[in-house]
Amino acid sequence: MLDSYAVIGNPISHSKSPLIHTAFSQQTNQSMQYDAILGPLDGFQAAVEKFRQQGGKGLNVTVPFKLEAYRLITHLTERASIAQAVNTLKFENNEILGDNTDGAGLVRDIEWNLDTPIAGKRILLMGAGGAARGVILPLLQQKPSVLVIANRTLHKARALQQQFTSYGNITSGNMMSFSNENFDIIINATSASLQDALPGLPAHVFMDNSLTYDMMYRHEPTPFLKFAQQNGAQRIADGVGMLVEQAAESFFLWRGIRPQTKPVIALLKSQI
Ligand code: ATR
Repeated sequence: MLDSYAVIGNPISHSKSPLIHTAFSQQTNQSMQYDAILGPLDGFQAAVEKFRQQGGKGLNVTVPFKLEAYRLITHLTERASIAQAVNTLKFENNEILGDNTDGAGLVRDIEWNLDTPIAGKRILLMGAGGAARGVILPLLQQKPSVLVIANRTLHKARALQQQFTSYGNITSGNMMSFSNENFDIIINATSASLQDALPGLPAHVFMDNSLTYDMMYRHEPTPFLKFAQQNGAQRIADGVGMLVEQAAESFFLWRGIRPQTKPVIALLKSQI
């Protein structure tokens, strides 16, 4: 019997995780299958339990269950505990280990795929919701000179600054607080791109050699990436690399093997 893994979310039909993990398992010759499960909005826990009873080894958890998954686990990694959200479950004996691989995926994409070391850099992170919270610790662990959290609603950015202040040099403000500053790495972790909107950042934060990153992706550059390009940013990236890298971290947690991500990123880009 093949070891069984899946992604659970609602909706789920759009998920690229089955494609990514199937590519990883073929590349590394693992005897496993990876499916997609539509989790009932009022029955997440029961669906996880059923999968586990059937011998399932691990799950990826996506919208809207990342917080619920956090409450279900028996052990948590530090990065999941601090993110207060779980995107990967591993079932072993009677234990459920919860991990959050999103931040590690972002860091790996920026540093390895986009060839941009984070140490000593000035980073602007836009957004103060779940997506932003999940990447703050892994970014600070790379020792940027400063990590600035900018959010439309200031008090949420301030709260994140307070929570993470002992992990590195972190400050906060609203989107317009930084009109006289520029940054080496600018990351959009707001959900504005989902609404086809701009997060409201002033145009002069971009430098020629800044890396501008949108954690969302679509078949063409997001409105934010287009805005960055129009205002001088020459290096832009969307969230496809992060998506594949966070999957590779989950795969490593489950199978103990690191798959090669570059061919899978290329495969995904050709399909979006
Ligand atoms: P997620 O889990 O994707 O982070 P979330 O927790 O709902 O979703 O957070 C959404 C983030 O995107 C918030 O930081 C939100 O800003 P507010 O705290 O001010 O609501 C931000 N956001 C959403 N739409 C935005 C927009 N049009 N402009 C700027 N920020 C936006």
